[in-house]
Amino acid sequence: MQNYDIETLAIRSGIARSQFNEHSEALYLTSSFVFDSAAQAAARFQGNEPGNIYSRFTNPTVTAFQDRLAAMEGAEACVATASGMSAILATAMALLKSGDHIVSSSGVFGATVQLFSNVLSKFGIETAYVDGPAPEAWKAALRPKTKLLYVETPSNPLTEVFDIRSLADLARAAGAVLVVDNCFCSPALQRPIELGADLVVHSATKYLDGQGRVLGGAVLGRRDLVMDGVYGFLRTAGPSLSPFNAWVLLKGLETLKIRMEAQSRSALDLARWLETHPRVAKVHYPGLPSHPQHGLAAKQQRSGGAVVSFEVKGGREAAWKVVDSTRLISITANLGDTKTTITHPATTTHGRISPEARARAGVTEGLLRVAVGLESPGDLRADLERGLG
Ligand SMILES: Cc1ncc(COP(=O)(O)O)c(C=O)c1O
Repeated sequence: MQNYDIETLAIRSGIARSQFNEHSEALYLTSSFVFDSAAQAAARFQGNEPGNIYSRFTNPTVTAFQDRLAAMEGAEACVATASGMSAILATAMALLKSGDHIVSSSGVFGATVQLFSNVLSKFGIETAYVDGPAPEAWKAALRPKTKLLYVETPSNPLTEVFDIRSLADLARAAGAVLVVDNCFCSPALQRPIELGADLVVHSATKYLDGQGRVLGGAVLGRRDLVMDGVYGFLRTAGPSLSPFNAWVLLKGLETLKIRMEAQSRSALDLARWLETHPRVAKVHYPGLPSHPQHGLAAKQQRSGGAVVSFEVKGGREAAWKVVDSTRLISITANLGDTKTTITHPATTTHGRISPEARARAGVTEGLLRVAVGLESPGDLRADLERGLG
């Protein structure tokens, strides 16, 4: 399947028909699997015979989702997880031990910062945060015990773009692994493994589902890291993806590229309009020539993506007015939906991190994040204008 284009892989890969020859992928809603005999059960448990045992380990619908996403990301292997956060946790638990060190971008999702700073720190794993994409700053943060470089590109919510190829080179030279959170672009717009990343993590909850229905996650990349490490942790610790969610996600992947292209077009339209608006101090969108990494984004991504962040003049009060004046756009912290969403990061997604960390991540009181869906761009502009005007 590796030679097909991504839109074909999204529809035709990961299919293993049952004895009924169904056309649409089957949903295997079962927690365990039956053996023909005691000898077969023993052989399966010992790993001497392939096959399913229990859905915490493997399930055919989950396997179908993993195979399809692996084909789309160009990855050797994929394991699906219950959520994006459990994908990041499983990666850390598989690759790190006490005394190891992470170098992460400071502009990562709020819960990721909490996981690194409040959870992994309890087990003797320290994290250094780097502000921005300058390679010298990343180099300076490395220590002999650095085992993992972690980046989200474009970042949430400020859409900072990081050079995946140069970070991959840096990680390799340091004997570390580069992990890229590809949530904002999805494989429809960016394929980090082709650019040298060792692992990709996903919150499948976002664009892979695309319709705001289920939680899910995935870790993809080198077979040794994914299957020996991450899968081993998952099978033992249990944050596995449910078959039902896998089935929803499998169908979500089929429309991923067409959704991402349409949502990116509307996001660019909105970003251009916001940039000319007198009540807007700044717009963060990689598709705009004013974005500091516009050139890199044009090389690394197929488009600017569907998330636009902007700073409203007047701080929190003015920003909340925009949020509260919407009639169409949903006030919710999720993103990646066909329905456009708006959030005030300083008091929601980034509300539980320290004010210092928030300031370092550039999350100001006037900042709003809009994740553009599939409504008409004109209707979205009118909905925002009500609170801005
Ligand atoms: C960039 C990014 N990574 C990871 C996550 C965590 O994913 P989940 O909510 O599926 O656990 C999110 C959630 O919003 C996110 O935006």
